[in-house]
Amino acid sequence: MKEKDLSVDLLINNAGLGAYGPFDVSEIRRVEEMIMLNVRSLVLLTRLFIPTMIERGRGGVIQIASTAAFQPIPFLSLYAATKAFVVSFSEAVWGEYQKRGIRVLCLCPGNTLTEFHSKAGIEKRKIFLPATPEEVVRFGLDAYQNGGGPTAVYGFLNRIMAMGYRMIPRRLMVRITNGLYGPKPEAQQHN
Ligand SMILES: NC(=O)c1ccc[n+]([C@@H]2O[C@H](COP(=O)([O-])OP(=O)(O)OC[C@H]3O[C@@H](n4cnc5c(N)ncnc54)[C@H](OP(=O)(O)O)[C@@H]3O)[C@@H](O)[C@H]2O)c1
Repeated sequence: MKEKDLSVDLLINNAGLGAYGPFDVSEIRRVEEMIMLNVRSLVLLTRLFIPTMIERGRGGVIQIASTAAFQPIPFLSLYAATKAFVVSFSEAVWGEYQKRGIRVLCLCPGNTLTEFHSKAGIEKRKIFLPATPEEVVRFGLDAYQNGGGPTAVYGFLNRIMAMGYRMIPRRLMVRITNGLYGPKPEAQQHN
């Protein structure tokens, strides 16, 4: 970055993708792409830009995770795991740099009306509590400007669910998410 004289005030790691379906038949190329984009690129871009922010004593990063981060989700297993990584990584980085003038915010949107679901193969009936991209962006930028974080979850009900999932046994939690995201029972029988 120094050679190219590039400095960034605010890095937003937004690009990400998901893929719905049973893990055993997931496309290997898609699996790799998801890890590369949701995890590897986000980590490397953060690593690349934070040093110049520290040098200048200002700057920040907004990482886009998801409410999928707060519980394992059958049939979206890898996506949810990549987002859990993003939350953990971002909160730790926030802890490292919060006293050095660098802001790190991990924004967790719930379902948002973008092309995400159609690209990921997620049926419309599984899109609960949808928000518009504008609402999520406004919320995220306000949280960033107000020094919120390390994590900001969009939407009151999403925040309640994120907290609630932490308090229930994990077996039960996965049964719930299996019920919400799994195929209809008759579809499971025919497969
Ligand atoms: N929509 C939701 O319900 C929802 C909920 C929670 C979190 N999120 C997260 O929000 C972020 C933005 O997603 P979105 O909802 O805006 O979905 P989207 O409409 O599908 O947009 C995805 C973005 O990622 C970029 N992208 C996809 N594959 C890429 C690749 N291999 N290399 C570089 N860029 C790539 C796309 O660029 P191109 O347009 O050039 O392809 C696009 O800008 C993602 O991290 C997603 O996980 C979304």
